[in-house]
Amino acid sequence: MTPIAEPYDDPIDSESIRAALSTTAMVRRIDYLATTRSTMDDARRAAAEGAPDGTLIVADEQSAGRGRFQRTWVSPPGVNLYLSLLLRPSPEVASQLSMMAPLALARALRRVADGRGGLVTIKWPNDVRMGGRKIGGILIESSLAQDGAEGFSIVGIGVNVNFDPVEFEEIRDTATALLGELGRPVPRLQLLAALMEEAEELYLALGEGSAVREEWASMLDTLGQRVSVTWGDTVYEGVAEGVDDGGGLLLRLPNGSIESFSAGEVTLRG
Ligand code: BTN
Repeated sequence: MTPIAEPYDDPIDSESIRAALSTTAMVRRIDYLATTRSTMDDARRAAAEGAPDGTLIVADEQSAGRGRFQRTWVSPPGVNLYLSLLLRPSPEVASQLSMMAPLALARALRRVADGRGGLVTIKWPNDVRMGGRKIGGILIESSLAQDGAEGFSIVGIGVNVNFDPVEFEEIRDTATALLGELGRPVPRLQLLAALMEEAEELYLALGEGSAVREEWASMLDTLGQRVSVTWGDTVYEGVAEGVDDGGGLLLRLPNGSIESFSAGEVTLRG
């Protein structure tokens, strides 16, 4: 679809974010920043200062937004969602956040997608795609409890909402945004509210021992595909055959054997 031409005014601030969110069982504190380097750094600082489980940091713009493997996350002002959620989960729950977060985002995008929700998929492990192009990314940074300091996980989420990725050379060929997919702008707070509602439901369910793996795996567009997995200097070619209990990718190699890769270690193309 062709994006609309006029600029769309979609301001956010602390008050409007607080009014939009009803997720008080998960989000205990909200910090809004008009501009920052990266909400990941802000969340890390907040964690060190003892911020509570459920501290949500939302920025309108990031000057040094980052993705997995130190890639840049394009973060212009006024158009997209950039947030980090500081959680202090049990180790069992922490190990499932890399499935929970993309699933929450995929569910939220489906809710706002005007019947085009079927286009939303997840590329293993946690890229969220629409029509086969990346629309959202998840970055999780965790610190184990040590020397009396409490452990924490920071779930960073970036979503391309009302911008045109074509304007940014580094993502022009691979990214998309809701604006282009739906042919209309989407109020960021509507998407943020849906995202937090889905995340809260899944997070509380995880705390009660439920698993998210099955639903997450059902949305993976990677399975059955021929892919190449880069692990350090080694590239493995094979067919993505499934995922293991921890969400690791099971790759069928040309010699018939199966190799398992965990999400933090590899990049995947295919
Ligand atoms: C990826 O796909 O590689 C992950 C992208 C994560 C981007 C978000 S935007 C909010 C938070 N702050 C950052 O600097 N990164 C994450």
